Amino acid sequence: MGAKGWFILKLLMFQGLFVSRPQEDFDFFYLVLQWPGAYCDTTRACCYPTSGKPAADFGIHGLWPNYNGGSWPSNCDPDSQFDRSQISDLVSSLKKNWPTLSCPSNEGFKFWEHEWEKHGTCSESVMDQHEYFENALKLKEKANLLQILTNSGINPDDGFYSLKKITNAIKNGIGFTPGIECNKDPERNDQLHQIYICVDTSGTEFIECPSLVVSSSPTAPDFNFFYWVNYWPGAICDSQKGCCPPTKGNTASDFIIHGLWPQFNNGTWPAFCDQTNLFDISKISDLVCQMEKKWTEWGVWACPSNETNLWEHEWNKHGTCVQSIFDQHSYFLTNLKFRHKLNLLNILIQKGIKPTDGFYGLDEIKNAIKCVIGFAPGIECNEDVKGNKQLFQIYICLDNYAKEFVECPYVPDKSCASKIKFPKFPERDPLSESLSVMSSVSTT
Ligand SMILES: *[C@@H]1O[C@H](CO)[C@@H](O)[C@H](O)[C@H]1NC(C)=O
Ligand SMILES: *[C@@H]1O[C@H](CO)[C@@H](O)[C@H](O)[C@H]1NC(C)=O
Repeated sequence: MGAKGWFILKLLMFQGLFVSRPQEDFDFFYLVLQWPGAYCDTTRACCYPTSGKPAADFGIHGLWPNYNGGSWPSNCDPDSQFDRSQISDLVSSLKKNWPTLSCPSNEGFKFWEHEWEKHGTCSESVMDQHEYFENALKLKEKANLLQILTNSGINPDDGFYSLKKITNAIKNGIGFTPGIECNKDPERNDQLHQIYICVDTSGTEFIECPSLVVSSSPTAPDFNFFYWVNYWPGAICDSQKGCCPPTKGNTASDFIIHGLWPQFNNGTWPAFCDQTNLFDISKISDLVCQMEKKWTEWGVWACPSNETNLWEHEWNKHGTCVQSIFDQHSYFLTNLKFRHKLNLLNILIQKGIKPTDGFYGLDEIKNAIKCVIGFAPGIECNEDVKGNKQLFQIYICLDNYAKEFVECPYVPDKSCASKIKFPKFPERDPLSESLSVMSSVSTT
């Protein structure tokens, strides 16, 4: 062999070192568990495995490597064929926990072969064939889903249970939010078919699903659109109620987030939807610092002002109704992202509409915002101490995934006049007390 041949050989060996221990090339796993009762109760036929009717329990569908963006790799290694001999010690457990329901009846090897070749071969960087099946079995046992559900009073009795109740029961049981997939029974009722639990790349620990995946989960929002509402502190302090500036004291002179509220097209809205997942500030600890600037409480609702109370109220009243789309963290984060994206005060000032106690046409204000987002917002007014209508809150409409601005299907209460005041931003601390005293005196 000449010198050149050696070089090529060495190069191949060198690369081989890296090929044999590649980084995992996926972001997480779905452990997918299916309920045989739903698989068999559709127009699709099912067949019990040759070993007989499976236990009344969830069965494994698969352990699927996935990308954060929602796509997944498949059939990654044609050279790594399914090999029964590698899993002979697991077969009896696989028959029990990973039963096939496809027709014609068979032992299950075809199902396992399919899962290995389509999904398992894409996780070879972290586990071999034996480990793949063993990990899936261990995860199923660890999740113990049927027990979790029956403990929460959710039984496979052909009864109906709210999606939220099922989701929360599992979340409380395993510590992480599952994805729920339904299919239809012959009467077209939605029924529980598969449960998706996210697992880390080692294939051993449950994790919170990457947010993108949760938001594209098969459950659709059960409301029509969102109001994203911001309020102008100047209108609170210059109203008949009096105000309480935030104790932290360093809020910018700007609009303040009030909340993100799910709405129905008919002008009503869902509220306080779930008592089992109430506000927990530890879930948003990384956001608190930003929220203390952009989501403060000026005593509209309580004096002395207490931000935590406002956030708690917003989640418990509105957030608990949008759990098909958001968890607590993504709910608050979405508000902050829109706040970052849309600087309402700047938009108005650009059009010469300034908070200087002057009066502006209501349409002028709406058009300034429409120019930027494409749709007119709703405006809510309150009254200053002299009874003038003034700019209090701005309602921006978003689609029911809170992704895009939309034309408001329903415009909130028209409490404004055709010309309204844009009050000054409240004075700083020294005056705050007398401000609130003054205004409460004037109401008597
Ligand atoms: C408004 O629509 C929602 C959702 O469709 C419905 O549940 C509610 O009863 C309706 N309310 C009124 C007053 O029509
Ligand atoms: C604000 O409200 C929260 C929740 O109710 C409470 O834990 C906290 O102590 C309050 N903070 C102040 C400064 O009163």
